[in-house]
Amino acid sequence: MTEQVEIKEGLDGVYITRSTICKVDGQQGKLYYRGYKIEDLAEKSSYEEVCFLLLYGKLPNKTELEDFNKKLKGERKISENLKMLIKGFSTANTLDVLRTAMSAISYDDNQPYSADETENIEKAIRIISKTPTIAAAIGRLKQGKEIIEPDDSLGHAENFLYMLIGSKPDKEKSKLMDVMFILHAEHSSNASTFATLVACSTLADIYAGVTAGMAALKGPLHGGADEAAIRMMREIGNPENTETYIEEALAGKRKIMGFGHRVYKTYDPRARILKTYLDKIKANSGEEINNFISISLRAEKMMIEKLGKSHGIWPNVDFFSGPLYLYLGIRIELFDTVFASARTVGWCSHVIEYWKNNKLFRPLEEYIGELDLGYTPIEERT
Ligand SMILES: CC(C)(COP(=O)(O)OP(=O)(O)OC[C@H]1O[C@@H](n2cnc3c(N)ncnc32)[C@H](O)[C@@H]1OP(=O)(O)O)[C@@H](O)C(=O)NCCC(=O)NCCS
Repeated sequence: MTEQVEIKEGLDGVYITRSTICKVDGQQGKLYYRGYKIEDLAEKSSYEEVCFLLLYGKLPNKTELEDFNKKLKGERKISENLKMLIKGFSTANTLDVLRTAMSAISYDDNQPYSADETENIEKAIRIISKTPTIAAAIGRLKQGKEIIEPDDSLGHAENFLYMLIGSKPDKEKSKLMDVMFILHAEHSSNASTFATLVACSTLADIYAGVTAGMAALKGPLHGGADEAAIRMMREIGNPENTETYIEEALAGKRKIMGFGHRVYKTYDPRARILKTYLDKIKANSGEEINNFISISLRAEKMMIEKLGKSHGIWPNVDFFSGPLYLYLGIRIELFDTVFASARTVGWCSHVIEYWKNNKLFRPLEEYIGELDLGYTPIEERT
């Protein structure tokens, strides 16, 4: 007789650890990094400050932030070997290349694994800093352009845009890029962070963990949702078609990407913040982006009416990201790669916290196959 077990599919509702890094309040639609409201951080802070906050658990003072910035800038450059590797795969999927490059970064570290927290924060800084450089290089090569070296006079997010676009972004674009980085920096134990923790719970090094995180981020149910959402908007084409498209998609039981969340059963606060930027970019956007903005606002209205209150399916961070990324000059194929570049700090912070009290992840599965079958030699099998 088999024992009775309860299976929580997708670990829905299962707590895996205690953490002081991030609180996602799915009922109230609130998000906190280390106790600070996401709205305050997006408006008043910078990505660098948020990285310090997530890694060290407190906001930096002026000197601490200056030192931290110096360290980040000191790690921006990537090796010639890494550039060769990226060049070798310039036609491949961008997140696949980034993930491969993440593995390769560890080859430049004589001791990729460390049990020492300070050393792991140094490794995290290296990862946080080099990832956007790699992402920008991938983006450049994809367009047949030369790789651009980092510019130390620029902040983290604006330097990323500079390395990608080839010119220094104005204040408004730098701020928006920074906000995108902040909003994507961390989100508790989602699929990619969990994958990172699973890898590192074996005491694999932090690079291996971040590589696992990038692997889990790739799918359209997670980091690929913003790309899927903008492709849907492209398919809709004319804003007038939005309602019919959504109606037909839902009738055909197709998901609308950029809506719904395992934890948020109300409006994702990050989506709320991003929505305010749609208005700000409208006047300076071309026809295509303005069409996407119109489509996204019409789709948002309809989805909330149909599935919001009744089913708890609301816009998430990925729904409004697309038009904003395009406005910044980030092409669709690079969306999840930018997401990954921002999320490195979240993954690393969780690994460092989890290792304070590490426990190997090893869940169970209920075996429902046969047992004690007789082994038939291959010659006798039909
Ligand atoms: C994120 C997501 C995987 C979380 O969902 P989950 O907790 O695993 O729940 P499920 O996928 O099982 O969905 C539960 C129900 O809601 C429906 N649903 C969920 N998201 C939906 C969406 N975006 N559009 C339409 N229906 C949706 C499902 O079809 C399912 O309906 P059913 O019970 O009639 O079969 C899901 O909402 C989704 O796939 N969203 C689209 C992808 C996305 O935007 N991902 C980014 C998240 S930040």
